[in-house]
Amino acid sequence: MTIKQAEFKKRRAALMKQVGKSNIAIIASAPQRTRNRDVHYPFRQDSDFFYLTGFNEPDALAVFIPGREQGEYILFCREFDQKKALWEGAHAGLEGATKHYEADDSFPITDLDDILPGMLENKGKVFYPMGKDSELDHKLLEWITHIRKQSRSGITAPGELVSLEHVVHEMRLFKSSEEIKLMRRAAEVSVCAHIRAMKACKPGLYEYQIEAELVHEFTAQGLRHVAYPSIVAGGSNACVLHYVGNNDKLHKNDLLLIDAGAECDHYAADITRTFPVSGTFTEPQRLLYQLVLDAQAAALEHIRPGVAWNQAHEASVEVLTKGLVKLGLLKGRVKTLIKNEKYKQFYMHRIGHWLGMDVHDVGDYKIKDEWRVLEPGMVLTVEPGLYVAADCDSVEPQWRGIGIRIEDDVLVTKDGHEILTHGVPKQIAAIEALMAQCPHE
Ligand code: GLY
Ligand code: MN
Ligand code: MN
Repeated sequence: MTIKQAEFKKRRAALMKQVGKSNIAIIASAPQRTRNRDVHYPFRQDSDFFYLTGFNEPDALAVFIPGREQGEYILFCREFDQKKALWEGAHAGLEGATKHYEADDSFPITDLDDILPGMLENKGKVFYPMGKDSELDHKLLEWITHIRKQSRSGITAPGELVSLEHVVHEMRLFKSSEEIKLMRRAAEVSVCAHIRAMKACKPGLYEYQIEAELVHEFTAQGLRHVAYPSIVAGGSNACVLHYVGNNDKLHKNDLLLIDAGAECDHYAADITRTFPVSGTFTEPQRLLYQLVLDAQAAALEHIRPGVAWNQAHEASVEVLTKGLVKLGLLKGRVKTLIKNEKYKQFYMHRIGHWLGMDVHDVGDYKIKDEWRVLEPGMVLTVEPGLYVAADCDSVEPQWRGIGIRIEDDVLVTKDGHEILTHGVPKQIAAIEALMAQCPHE
């Protein structure tokens, strides 16, 4: 499953239109990063670069010059190297760049310094992701300075650097049907992984053994990369929002919070479920869990076109604060507690984020200081939580050390929304029923 070349072409055409004739856009690939000595981290292409090119190699740079007669899309990349192909496998080379990736022209990346400065001549604006790659930033400024020095020969240098990200990120915020297919697949496989983890869980196992179940399911279904490091947090580890230690033993009376998602051809899933290690919630766990579930339901009611992005968050804050007062974890008037943000002791993050090629995906949340209004094609997470630190002595001991988050991936549709990750049980009875199918003692 993968995005077709025609779609990349459409994206480039949309970009060129916004860049405009007499201007130029430049974007580099991600580098190959060293892990240790001669071992590399698994390569992950820069999301913006991949979005525009579909080209999955390091040492590449794309240039877009709307209206250029010899071709508008130029790809600099590694030349084909027979020895490299033998040791490391296939790479496109200059021929592949034009033939398979539909670049109008391709050049060796090693010739960048000789060729790119000429492309900048007489251009007005350079659309470029400034600050991402300091070496390239430096080179670009040097090239522009060099061109400026030739002004007496009638050549003009670009006078403005414009954020390329701003244009591309706005495009990325709205998912096409091809993109949604990939997100559905990432969600579907991640759903299976969460169910597998729930079934496998029992007291005495270690968090990393549950992580292994997740990895097994992702990999067995062909998704070889996680969208972010899996969080497998037993007991009070769940109160560390981005816990990735995954090293502790699971205890009978604890909850287990799993926040994990696979990546499908550069598109992420991001699911959290929290469930009892033993298969049965204790009473305090049940009460707090139901509260988070109610907060999620309240938030989901605000996910539809035309509703401002912050409404879902505010709905979750209201439900959680009311519930915390009812259960005695907060004391005072709900309105005042919300105004003074007292709930933040237990609910310190926002309701969610955009989801796409990056787990915390790109796109503005506010436009001119106003919260953005939801539109069809946007995908976001809805993930309220409650976290009562183990040493929180302002609450009764029964609540301490409980961390709960429930997270789903939601597509905004014409008529409302669709939950892409509903397949993992989240109602208390459904979780207990699923876990009862397997021995958990
Ligand atoms: N998995 C990170 C998050 O939920 O934001
Ligand atoms: Mn998330
Ligand atoms: Mn998450």
